[in-house]
Amino acid sequence: MADRYALFGHPVAHSVSPALHAAFARQTGQEFTYDKHTVAPDDFSARVKEFFAIGGKGLNITLPFKGAAFAGADRLTPRARQAQAVNTLWRDNSGALVGDNTDGAGFIRDLTVNHSIPVGGKNILLIGAGGAARGIIGPLLEQAPARLHIANRTASRATELAALFGSPVTGGGFDVWPDARFDLIINATAAGHEGVAAAPPDKLLAPRFSGYDLSYGDVAAPFLQWAQSHRAASACDGWGMLVEQAAESFYLWRGLRPDTAPVIADREAYFGSGGGIM
Ligand code: ATR
Repeated sequence: MADRYALFGHPVAHSVSPALHAAFARQTGQEFTYDKHTVAPDDFSARVKEFFAIGGKGLNITLPFKGAAFAGADRLTPRARQAQAVNTLWRDNSGALVGDNTDGAGFIRDLTVNHSIPVGGKNILLIGAGGAARGIIGPLLEQAPARLHIANRTASRATELAALFGSPVTGGGFDVWPDARFDLIINATAAGHEGVAAAPPDKLLAPRFSGYDLSYGDVAAPFLQWAQSHRAASACDGWGMLVEQAAESFYLWRGLRPDTAPVIADREAYFGSGGGIM
């Protein structure tokens, strides 16, 4: 029987993850199945146990279960521990359930390789202090930025998150801003769901700054429009990040790295010109 993989989340109806993994499988000549399952919140742990008990090889975990997967794994990779969230599960040779997080690696690869946006020595502004923001702070710091400021609607969440990491990370609200010009502005808020952009004052923008929204499709549109209207050198949504995090999960499970470039370029094939969810 072919190896089985799946995505667990709630909801997952519009997820493109099965299509991405099918593309990677075709490209690398691998044979396996990858399904998506809407899981009721109370059933998550039992469904994970059942999936692996009947021979499942690996799971991707999406909202709202990344924290539950983190809590339920027997062993965590350092990057999952830092993110306090798990999006990829598998069993090691001893049968232990291993939890990893490929979101941050996918983000850094899309940002620095696909879009050639540097982080080292730069001033980075991260807007938002929820789970999505938290997951990329460690990977950003590995690139040695000069400064990383977290700005959030609820200031205390940003200052608390910044304190966990320490220098060069600072945090604050939308009322008091640091005296700096930012080269890269990352939107990790859910403001796009309300059709608005959470954006900093104009005086904080470095000339030729880049804007990156971790979401994609329609949800990213308000932030990208704000960035373009403020003469950003580049304004990117998280479609490439989505493909890259899937490729990283594929690598963990199958030991092969798919070529993400043709999949990223084929975006229209996955959802026309609109958006989607993981
Ligand atoms: P996720 O896991 O997607 O990060 P989350 O943990 O609920 O989700 O975090 C959502 C983030 O979007 C938070 O930073 C939130 O700000 P608050 O901490 O003040 O709630 C931010 N957010 C949501 N709606 C927003 C809006 N309309 N304007 C600005 N920030 C918003």
